[in-house]
Amino acid sequence: MSGLTRADLEALPAYVPGRAVPGAIRLASNEVPYGPLPGVVEAITQAAAGVHRYPDMGVLALREALGERYGVPVERIATGCGSVALAEHLVRAACLPGDEVVYPWRSFEAYPIIAATSAATSVRVPNTAGHGHDLAAMLAALTPRTRLVLVCNPNNPTGSALRRGELDAFLDAVPAGVLVVLDEAYREFVTDPEVPDGLAAYGDRPNVVVLRTFSKAWGLAGLRLGFLVAQPAVAAAVRKVVTPFSTSGVAQAAGLAALRAADEVSRRTTMVVAERERLLAAVRTLLPEAPVPQSQANFVWLPLGTHSAGFAGACERAGVIVRPFPGEGVRVTVGTPEENDAFLVAAQAALG
Ligand SMILES: Cc1ncc(COP(=O)(O)O)c(C=O)c1O
Repeated sequence: MSGLTRADLEALPAYVPGRAVPGAIRLASNEVPYGPLPGVVEAITQAAAGVHRYPDMGVLALREALGERYGVPVERIATGCGSVALAEHLVRAACLPGDEVVYPWRSFEAYPIIAATSAATSVRVPNTAGHGHDLAAMLAALTPRTRLVLVCNPNNPTGSALRRGELDAFLDAVPAGVLVVLDEAYREFVTDPEVPDGLAAYGDRPNVVVLRTFSKAWGLAGLRLGFLVAQPAVAAAVRKVVTPFSTSGVAQAAGLAALRAADEVSRRTTMVVAERERLLAAVRTLLPEAPVPQSQANFVWLPLGTHSAGFAGACERAGVIVRPFPGEGVRVTVGTPEENDAFLVAAQAALG
């Protein structure tokens, strides 16, 4: 330890990206496998000619397009270098050192890192036995020091989703002075009509912030583009703490082009959802004893416990990269039908 940086960071697990092995099938990062959307590469190419200039720091054209699509005024929108950066900016905007950030666990692995960047105190609330958020326990975990609560719906990595009634009651019970961040990175894959669209259902609540990303259904993971919708004062505070120019001009152009391809996004998400259901049925047959939760996202969760690392290793040797959470489970991203078939062959061999 050098003593030059914060000692508490030593104990913090680093963010682990999904592994990329040349030639292997990549089902470890929750990307959509169908390539950039139509029009995106052309827009990027055109924008590339201007990269010697700083981009529009206000991201106005893209925020206007988002405002139009989602029916919210631009002053309620902020963009960032992926929604993960926006979550970090929200914590920075809301928390002083020692303030508490409550979040479910196991959930998105960036949450502990995000809390730590502001020296906020992480309060992790274990999921229910069914792999979903324990909202009653999350409520019970709130203290006068709680400034922000993260709700991941659907939850990464388990895929489970909260329904309207329980979320309504939770939001009614959270004190008005606590920000509730609804992280909806996988919203486009939700098919359960009882799982509310956070923006439509709760976007107007003063203490709710909805986070969305272009990385998943919109196919722009490599360009780092996310956005949030919040009350104007909250969005303005985020825009104040955001790293200047962190939404690049290329990302802005790509985001605008992606929004013009919304029909293709629907077509792709329909294919992903059909494959998700096929994968779920198949893995439930392979794992009759492990209760595989219903997923509302573009991945499935195999609660393999102590077998998780071994299973992922066996899949990798068979040319399919999945994401192990050692001791807990394995997350498998929905790929193309051929990729999913290859995974199922590998899974069957690993379990047999
Ligand atoms: C729940 C959740 N939120 C946010 C993100 C971050 O997405 P990005 O920073 O690429 O927008 C992810 C990515 O895996 C995620 O799973």
